[in-house]
Amino acid sequence: MPSLCVFGAQWGDEGKGKIIDRMAADADVIVRYQGGANAGHTVVVGEERYVLHLIPSGILHAGTVNVIGSGVAIDPLTLLEEIAGLRERGVRVTHENLRVASNAHVIFQHHRRIDGLSERWRGDGRIGTTGRGIGPCYADKAARTGLRICDLLDTGRMRVRLTAALAEKNALIERVHGEAPMSLDEELARYAEVGDQLRAFVGDTGAEVRDAYAAGKQILFEGAQGLMLDLDHGTYPFVTSSSTGVGGVASGAGFPPSRLDHVVGIAKAYCTRVGEGPFPSELDNETGERLRAIGHEFGATTGRPRRAGWFDAVAVRYALELCGADGWIVTKLDVLSGFDTLFVGTEYAVDGEIVQRYPAGRPSVEGVEVRYREVPGWTEDISGVRRWEDLPERARAYVDLLEDLTGTPVEMVSVGPERDAVIRRPR
Ligand code: IMP
Repeated sequence: MPSLCVFGAQWGDEGKGKIIDRMAADADVIVRYQGGANAGHTVVVGEERYVLHLIPSGILHAGTVNVIGSGVAIDPLTLLEEIAGLRERGVRVTHENLRVASNAHVIFQHHRRIDGLSERWRGDGRIGTTGRGIGPCYADKAARTGLRICDLLDTGRMRVRLTAALAEKNALIERVHGEAPMSLDEELARYAEVGDQLRAFVGDTGAEVRDAYAAGKQILFEGAQGLMLDLDHGTYPFVTSSSTGVGGVASGAGFPPSRLDHVVGIAKAYCTRVGEGPFPSELDNETGERLRAIGHEFGATTGRPRRAGWFDAVAVRYALELCGADGWIVTKLDVLSGFDTLFVGTEYAVDGEIVQRYPAGRPSVEGVEVRYREVPGWTEDISGVRRWEDLPERARAYVDLLEDLTGTPVEMVSVGPERDAVIRRPR
């Protein structure tokens, strides 16, 4: 498929990094279109483990072009660190294989600071953000007071705009939050060199991606977070501040949606969520702890323990439907080995009424109860299995059930962190 979008169909952390890394082998251009360094994609190559926050995982494949699109909130210090870290490990990163949108917005230190202060202000209503300044940066973008990457390339312009921005932020920090203001001189000094260091990578990436598509190149759009964290369609206000679904591609990559050829969702064989907010199938008990321990469910960015629960077909069906997914991929099926019985959320009781559709319009999930189907588990370790027919019958039946319940074909099953630990689902 000339253009392909891969997105998370749960609350993030679906194991997209590994799948995208695999797909990147067949892609010419890999594009991040939303989010920022709140994301953490883990890729395991042989003995090496890479955690990428901003740079698309295609960077680990020679011959690909990796694009950070205009919809990404870029912390330039994190980006430079990531470039340096990859280079130290022998990964080639040049202006040829890394492209950065000149119109992407910049996350400054004051955004990170305000992220933390706002969380404190919200008290019990806190979102549980990653503290990376994501919300405050996107808020400034919408308020038209933000700075873009192109502003960093001209120190005079940056000085003027940063001075104005920080004056307002310092008033907020001092007068609302009662904290010491940030030093303009320190902020200016911190970012003075940044523009120069990034200059070579910066360009009109929307045009570059459209040109590549027109030239017949394979384009892979890589979603971060998950659809249930989407600003419009997720569990607002416990969401991130960008369009995490396929909808984000159009604005965040500058790519016409009518040219998107294939859409694939990714969801775990169970479910996790990090941070606060609704999680209907959560297991706040020993089983949840067991899933967290076996699945190593700790945030790649913050190290926070993830909340864990059973697969929720209602939520995944909603995500796949909303994004028009042609297919989806089940990850971490190996984690379920050894459970005597598994439960799959099939429908919700909403105020006592049974519904199959996710109640997206509700302000909260209070009064929502998940109805489960109980299915027998399997005991075999399946992490070494590479062919569908070699999976235990009960594991196949489990995947078949998920496919039935979501109404969308399962294209692949992942059974371990390694690049090759996948099983194609025959048709
Ligand atoms: P923010 O994106 O840092 O503002 O955080 C908003 C919400 O999204 C919080 O619940 C975070 O835990 C969650 N979140 C942000 N990025 C990720 C991610 O990459 N994986 C999972 N959850 C995320």
